[in-house]
Amino acid sequence: MTGKLKWVFHTIPQPGEWGYDTWPADAYKKIGATNNWSGMSLDEKRGVVYFGTGSPAADFYGGDRKGTNLFANCIMALDAETGKLKWYYQTIHHDLWDRDHPCPPNLITLKHKGKLVDALVQTTKDGLVYVLDRDKGTSLFPVEERKVPTNGLPGEHPWPTQKYPLKPLPLNRQVYTEADITNISPEAHAYIKERFQKIRTSNKFAPPSTTGTLLFGYSGGAEWGGNAVDPSGILYQNANHQPWELIMAERASLNQKNAPLTAGNALYITNCATCHGQDRKGSGQELPSLVDIGKRRSADEIKAILKTGSGRMPAFQQLSEKERDALVSFLLNTETGSAKVASGTSSAPTTKRGFPYEPSYVVKSWQPLVDQEGYPGIKPPWGTLNAIDLNTGNYLWRVPLGEFPELTKKGIPITGTESYGGPLATAGGSYSLPVLKTNESGPSIKRLVRLFGSINFLPVGSLHPLPTRLMENSMWSLPLVVGGGRRLAEITLPLR
Ligand code: HEC
Repeated sequence: MTGKLKWVFHTIPQPGEWGYDTWPADAYKKIGATNNWSGMSLDEKRGVVYFGTGSPAADFYGGDRKGTNLFANCIMALDAETGKLKWYYQTIHHDLWDRDHPCPPNLITLKHKGKLVDALVQTTKDGLVYVLDRDKGTSLFPVEERKVPTNGLPGEHPWPTQKYPLKPLPLNRQVYTEADITNISPEAHAYIKERFQKIRTSNKFAPPSTTGTLLFGYSGGAEWGGNAVDPSGILYQNANHQPWELIMAERASLNQKNAPLTAGNALYITNCATCHGQDRKGSGQELPSLVDIGKRRSADEIKAILKTGSGRMPAFQQLSEKERDALVSFLLNTETGSAKVASGTSSAPTTKRGFPYEPSYVVKSWQPLVDQEGYPGIKPPWGTLNAIDLNTGNYLWRVPLGEFPELTKKGIPITGTESYGGPLATAGGSYSLPVLKTNESGPSIKRLVRLFGSINFLPVGSLHPLPTRLMENSMWSLPLVVGGGRRLAEITLPLR
């Protein structure tokens, strides 16, 4: 009502606060993140706010943050009036894999062992489903703490144990093995097999390395669109199954390597290569090649994209006008090569944002494992819609979600695709509405039309839809953005 600050809870504890001893003494002064970026859920009756926190900075190197690092990667319950800690439940200790909690928990009442229990369900980026008692913060289903590898980068202190929930089972595969190499064509299989042999992939908690680690966690498991529950205790969840390959490098040597580069090239390596590739060829179906960008876009258009971002590409407002010019010249191959970055200038993106902490190991490359055509380098399904009965912890069903029509045409069973939007369960019916990446005439859309009646597509340009419910003339109207097609679909349902 007044806009006045009511309370502050430090997710990196300060001296005297609970959890302070799970970090080095001065961590709160220099380590960032551990934030709640994915939204909160309020239990008005209890006056308690529930949320998940993210991983600490730097995402993939924790040499300077020895300890379990509370309250990073925690499911939290705070008194909404006072900000006082009710309980916390840490799902990853000393995160080295960027496994933030990607969405707010859903609040739900379940029948557990014959009793009604007010619970919450939190899904994770690595595809786990935690079902906790809302008052006690304890898991309703068994969770094991198991030994994990500790062979980290120099100076690293990987935590020796991590959590493994036994029920519900994970939404996606947890470790990529040889049996998971894509089988959509012999060419794709051979292409991925060659890369597979060079990558560390034996354990989902294998610490990042300079030779390469294959991880589920960025487009594997749950995403920021969140999940739907219906009052009978069913969770509807759209999961991704795309592994990513992470290669780390020592910052000092990377800087040295980048020093002889032109300014635009160095800026490109630092800010753009993780998505568009070191070779500018892009990666995956979603990340465009910039090799011939000059044929499609003018310098002004590229500068505009850098300022505003586009779809899944973030804006780069932190770059100066000069830096934007250098990048554009590099991309249009007009850079003269005279402007060099000063030797020893950090290439870590963190410095660009003026953040004081610089880890001694930084990301050299972080890319989805994709085949030569950009399709996921893993056996389908690549995206699924899951229904889990949270009363029992058992899956009711799991189906592929989304499709690449050109692969279906070739006779490949529907693969599913990545999805980042959220599903919506509507009362009194079996409607569950996740977001599809497909074209308008594809079988998925046809199936939706059969289910829902009519869909109208309107042009818009974003990829991360969250359906919104509107009621109009005794019909539900559900506008949602359909990824990939860059369209807004409006679906109308009869009101029950
Ligand atoms: C997080 C991943 C990511 C990063 C980092 C990123 N991009 Fe992109 N970029 C994308 C995606 C995804 C698209 C497609 C956007 C769309 O579909 O609207 C894109 C589109 C573009 C386009 C338009 C391509 C076309 O074909 O029209 C340009 C130009 C571009 N990016 C340049 C850059 C530059 C320069 C940087 C570094 C400063 C950068 N991007 C960093 C993901 C990224």
